[in-house]
Amino acid sequence: MTTVQRVRAEEDLRAKRLVELRAKRDEIVAAHGPWIGYNIDLAPGLSTMAQGLVGMAEARVKRIVQLVVDLSNRPLSQLRILDLGAHEAGFAIELARRGAEVVAIEARDGHVAKAEFVKEALGLDRLSIVQGNVRDVTSLVSSEFDIVLCLGLLYHLDGQGACALMHDLRRLTKLFAVVETQISLSDRASFSHDGQTYWGRPSPEVTTRPGAAVDVANAFWLTRPSLLNLLADAGYTSVLDCANPVIPALAAFRDHVTFVAAAGDKVDYLGLPDERWPEHIPPVAAPVQGLRWALIEGIRKRRGGGMDSAFVKRQR
Ligand SMILES: C[S@@+](CC[C@H](N)C(=O)[O-])C[C@H]1O[C@@H](n2cnc3c(N)ncnc32)[C@H](O)[C@@H]1O
Repeated sequence: MTTVQRVRAEEDLRAKRLVELRAKRDEIVAAHGPWIGYNIDLAPGLSTMAQGLVGMAEARVKRIVQLVVDLSNRPLSQLRILDLGAHEAGFAIELARRGAEVVAIEARDGHVAKAEFVKEALGLDRLSIVQGNVRDVTSLVSSEFDIVLCLGLLYHLDGQGACALMHDLRRLTKLFAVVETQISLSDRASFSHDGQTYWGRPSPEVTTRPGAAVDVANAFWLTRPSLLNLLADAGYTSVLDCANPVIPALAAFRDHVTFVAAAGDKVDYLGLPDERWPEHIPPVAAPVQGLRWALIEGIRKRRGGGMDSAFVKRQR
């Protein structure tokens, strides 16, 4: 075969593959509806949604990949990652495409079918899609993961379920977990788990929606302090708030957080106790910030408190 013939044969093969892929994608759309989450390039000229379309979902994928790369400090090919409530597996697919071993858990048939199709189309041998309920995570997966992604999921569980999941996840995490979730801005309801009280608000779920809870009519959104306390109670030793990379449209939400929770070993220093986040911390600022803060500081001082009193040493 001449070089020209070989090039032509390769072109024909590529064109045939594109036609087959498009037909397969259209079959999935006919059976499960169009892709609603992530626009993923499948081949030159073919994407899950439409060529060149990007939005919040793609910005979130980029941000999480950056975070994983930065904080793991290891090549992706050396990482084992768990992605929970994976939806169409946009995060899992991109991490696997870059070489990580990824297990994605998702309950809904349609999302799983779409994720399986993209896995095949891109030849992602290191990606496993597991259909199941995240409540059963410890029986769905067999060993620990360097990184656990719990993105857009926790607020679709009831309070007890959210607590149980975080405790399960801590046992599965070697380096860190990323928890991106809605939080409650009010502490109108509470419940107890393992002797601790957590606050927040119930949130109704429409289980027929593709991004919603699969098994509860009412989920529970934890307050920020309660979520931070839960992460500590589960055994995550420090928690960072992901400020950059910023997604301005997402940053506008006061009730949305992305926490990175480290699965470390506890440090002891002078026998100091572990503190808990109080549900309410009256805000403090240096009096130079303006009249309001100067007045608050003055009142506190008169009552025997004030900023200086926070730095006073007390007997252990
Ligand atoms: C809001 S979407 C978030 C998807 C993705 N992780 C993200 O952050 O873009 C929630 C996903 O979790 C799935 N899900 C909800 N509850 C689940 C459960 N108990 N077990 C497994 N998947 C669940 C839903 O089907 C949906 O795909």
